[in-house]
Amino acid sequence: MAEVNYLGQLRHSNLVKLIGYCCEDEHRILVYEYMESGSLEKHLLRRVGCMLTWSRRMKIALDAAKGLAFLHGAERPVIYRDFKTSNILLNADFSAKLSDFGLAKDGPMGDQTHVSTRVMGTYGYAAPEYVMTGHLTARSDVYGFGVVLLEMLLGRRAVDKSRPSREHNLVEWARPLLNNNKKVLRILDPRLEGQYTARTAMKVAGLAYQCLSQNPKGRPVMSDVVALLETVQSQGAEEEMLQSGGGVVTLYEVPKLSSHNSGDKKRNQSGFSGSTEGESRRRNKPGNGRSKSEPPADREPCDFRNSSSNLENDEKSVSARK
Ligand SMILES: Nc1ncnc2c1ncn2[C@@H]1O[C@H](COP(=O)(O)OP(=O)(O)OP(=O)(O)O)[C@@H](O)[C@H]1O
Ligand SMILES: [Mg+2]
Repeated sequence: MAEVNYLGQLRHSNLVKLIGYCCEDEHRILVYEYMESGSLEKHLLRRVGCMLTWSRRMKIALDAAKGLAFLHGAERPVIYRDFKTSNILLNADFSAKLSDFGLAKDGPMGDQTHVSTRVMGTYGYAAPEYVMTGHLTARSDVYGFGVVLLEMLLGRRAVDKSRPSREHNLVEWARPLLNNNKKVLRILDPRLEGQYTARTAMKVAGLAYQCLSQNPKGRPVMSDVVALLETVQSQGAEEEMLQSGGGVVTLYEVPKLSSHNSGDKKRNQSGFSGSTEGESRRRNKPGNGRSKSEPPADREPCDFRNSSSNLENDEKSVSARK
């Protein structure tokens, strides 16, 4: 019912549309707009034929951030509470919308700093302070956003028991590496090789680092996240234009290079020789950084949702402590 209440009232191009619902005896049916390309989770975990290029991932991150910023900026702010890759749906052109408002909750109002609630969500995505205290704020969603951004940057699941034990929890393992320029470039998804400039990748990794701050006040608000990702988007478009030979600079520079500097093989075909060109080719080395993060604090009993991903074991271990 929460879903009908929220999605029935909220309209935004980055929230999935609720077309109708049926409520008869114990039967409930919700009908949503159909999202042709399915969930972000499905695409991100596809080893072969992954269609998620760097620029697509950045656009998805921006779309999803806009959805969250809209919820947080509503007259009565809404906390989404279940931000994860399986709840981000993609349509045919890979634009993204948030789905699944079953856990959404009204945010704090007036001089309230938080709402107190039973801990619910998905293990690996829930903010640490929320898991420990049950205090929910919009900054809990920002943490979830940081986890998804990290999954997109690294091409790894938030929790993955098939990896060596120190890499089981993606945030614990990767966050300390995100503010180390050299290390971060080594752990990025190898399927993205050559599609980003080091400067842009480090900027986005820095954003993920901030979103994943242990201190909720150290996290940015979603409107700032949107603004930063918009700059990434426009820089990416400029770089693509320069590399594909578009723009006045290229037309002017090509004849100059071929007549005076024909031996310069380091320049690309368009004649653009920005410092970022060499930076954008990264070697495909597996990450080897050591997490300096502390062991996870003991968690209070919490009620995590079932998930279609491999998180089942984690959820069992959490509920076993109830
Ligand atoms: N409107 C839609 N259009 C296309 N596919 C959808 C739509 N809604 C859901 N799906 C697909 O169904 C899957 C299951 O969604 P569902 O929300 O039931 O489970 P989940 O997100 O995997 O887990 P959880 O129950 O924790 O939310 C999604 O991941 C997505 O692939
Ligand atoms: Mg879902």
